[in-house]
Amino acid sequence: MTIKNVVVAGGSGNLGNAVVKELLKAGYKVTVFAREDSTSTFPSEVSVRKVVYGSVESLKPALEGQDAVVSTLATVAVGGQNPLIDAAVEAGVKRFIPSEFGINTRIVEGTAIGQLLQGKIKTVDYLEEKTKANPGFTWTGVSSGLFFDWGLAYGSIGFNKSTKTATIYDSGNEVVQASNLGFIGRAVAAILANEDKTANKYLSIGSPNFSQNEVLAIVERETGEKWEVQRASTADEGKIGLEKLSKGDYSAFRNLLRERIFKDGAGLSAKGDNSANGMLGLQEESLEDTIKAWLRS
Ligand SMILES: NC(=O)c1ccc[n+]([C@@H]2O[C@H](COP(=O)([O-])OP(=O)(O)OC[C@H]3O[C@@H](n4cnc5c(N)ncnc54)[C@H](OP(=O)(O)O)[C@@H]3O)[C@@H](O)[C@H]2O)c1
Repeated sequence: MTIKNVVVAGGSGNLGNAVVKELLKAGYKVTVFAREDSTSTFPSEVSVRKVVYGSVESLKPALEGQDAVVSTLATVAVGGQNPLIDAAVEAGVKRFIPSEFGINTRIVEGTAIGQLLQGKIKTVDYLEEKTKANPGFTWTGVSSGLFFDWGLAYGSIGFNKSTKTATIYDSGNEVVQASNLGFIGRAVAAILANEDKTANKYLSIGSPNFSQNEVLAIVERETGEKWEVQRASTADEGKIGLEKLSKGDYSAFRNLLRERIFKDGAGLSAKGDNSANGMLGLQEESLEDTIKAWLRS
């Protein structure tokens, strides 16, 4: 049976909103799950179900007749996805896409940043277990790298258009895995459309991947001005991250992330064999057009 009815848990969020839009465009029938006290609003084509994420009894009836669940739940909630998985299995849902959508969490076990990603890592471990016990149930994990268009505005790419300043790590030449939100939404739609090829796989996608120096060249060309560049080292970010981690300060994540992705020679971009872009038939996003749209916004 082809996947038609799709639940997006947390569909009101930064990523969820884009996933809902792309699933609707691709012709899926979308139901969004929201918490009881959520005040989020949704497009009129979407059905909304209020649920309690910690309760299989609340979730199971809301999942009856659904083919797939895409979880785009907030970072704080990723460690609590097991009841949603249990209810999906009980309701006969065929595919579960957990709230991953960042760095590849299957290759960070034993590292400092891996300690902060246990919620995501254990969720995928749990999905693997559930799949073995329930052959009709499948999962797909998606590593998208940094949210690129969202990150330009939010500051995680290192550029500030109001002050025309940038923080560039190491040489700035490292190519970093990243994805625009709409691109991730299209990847999710393509995963569900390619059910067999994507079953029980952890996939990395990314577009536009970028280097900080490429972004700098584009913003300076487009604004016609030199931006003030502060140089920083990923080794320092790593040290700060470890120091914070030793004190139980979880803001260590940002420092450890910068060390991991911007470090010269990190080699983590989603290209060639490291990328499912081609297998999913995804059209690449333009780095230049994305930056121009951000500068205009
Ligand atoms: N790669 C990147 O650069 C990057 C950046 C940010 C996030 N991420 C990852 O992407 C995924 C989605 O993140 P996001 O920023 O899109 O999420 P978000 O906007 O922070 O939250 C998504 C939705 O989750 C629900 N939610 C919020 N707090 C919750 C809680 N305590 N318990 C249950 N549900 C809660 C809310 O929906 P309702 O109010 O409607 O219930 C919210 O709209 C996460 O896995 C996150 O780690 C990646």
